[in-house]
Amino acid sequence: MTVATAATAAASRTSAASAPAAATRPPGGPPVRVPCRFLGWGAAVPGGRLTNADLEARLDTSDAWITERTGIRERRTSGSGETTASLATAAGRAALERAGVAPSEVDLVLLATTTADTPCPSTAAHVQHALGTRGPAVDVNAACAGFVYGLHLAAAAIHAGGLSRVLVIGGERITAITDPDDRATAILFGDGAGALLLEVAQPAAGEAGPGLLAVDLGGDGSAIPHLGIPAGDRYLRMDGQEVFRRATRAMATSCEAVLDGAGVSAEDVALFVPHQANRRIIDATAARLGFPADRVAVNIDRYGNTSAASVPMALAEALDAGRLSSGDLVLLSAVGAGLSWGSTLLRWGA
Ligand code: UT7
Repeated sequence: MTVATAATAAASRTSAASAPAAATRPPGGPPVRVPCRFLGWGAAVPGGRLTNADLEARLDTSDAWITERTGIRERRTSGSGETTASLATAAGRAALERAGVAPSEVDLVLLATTTADTPCPSTAAHVQHALGTRGPAVDVNAACAGFVYGLHLAAAAIHAGGLSRVLVIGGERITAITDPDDRATAILFGDGAGALLLEVAQPAAGEAGPGLLAVDLGGDGSAIPHLGIPAGDRYLRMDGQEVFRRATRAMATSCEAVLDGAGVSAEDVALFVPHQANRRIIDATAARLGFPADRVAVNIDRYGNTSAASVPMALAEALDAGRLSSGDLVLLSAVGAGLSWGSTLLRWGA
């Protein structure tokens, strides 16, 4: 794949990431390797609300502990009839409506999810059917990093030719795999979905148009024992401290690789949209990269960790608030189980 990629020291990498770093840094600024427009965005959350007070009432925890250690005050939880597919469909539909694009004009649905409603068929197939898009639809599972992986795959599909519009959705019903009695995880996770519609574009002559400027994807399977669903269990188990340590390092290193690969610094980037896993991880990464608070998207207080939905939900919220204009650079980054991580730099534009 020819997306500009940046090199990080990762235990395993995509083939794209092994492209020579020098090729990503020609003189004169970052190359737009995958020109594409971002036509529409959307988000959806379920009706249920789980506050720290609710958790305090039934677990050995406190509002003060949760707020101080995570930044979370409440999360949204799915009830009867609310599924990963229904949340993803609602977010996808909102993105199409905002773009003014008919479902029949979408060539591919990529659904990033850790919580497929059923093992077979894909949850994306249900979303495709509910939206009425053209045939192709596929799930992508890279845990919390899934949406960034999905964007990369969408850009690659557009770049390869034949597909004009790709709807990328991050959707999770992560509370379905969260043990309500395990205070190590029950305080963290919430449900939701976010979506972004990409369309192929020709680069404008002589100027930088919208698109993906750089991508860094990485993985380190040595972390598998620290976060995941053990065989025979139905719930996520996590060694929080170890994941915290690794996630903080991976996110910062990956973001630096992308900024380096595109030849820009944090000062050039209008908005940093990190995965919303823990407010302390967000703050530490933003500080290390040099992002002031007003250029970081944060909504963890209201939604908790929504896994693959977290980056597109935070991006959609920032867009709704008018925090991005055409031509702005946006840095997205996420780390999740695997570990798997991904970061990408976009030049925004419709
Ligand atoms: O999205 C995928 C990636 N996931 C992440 O990035 C999550 C990363 N990890 C974290 O966010 C944090 O590690 C947690 C929020 C899960 C835990 O925070 P921590 O600061 O790492 O706490 P800890 O596990 O070191 O525990 C500190 C203390 C312990 O008590 P003692 O031994 O000091 O007496 C724990 O037993 O806090 C206790 N504790 C709690 N107390 C109240 C642990 N969980 C809780 C809780 N409520 N829910």
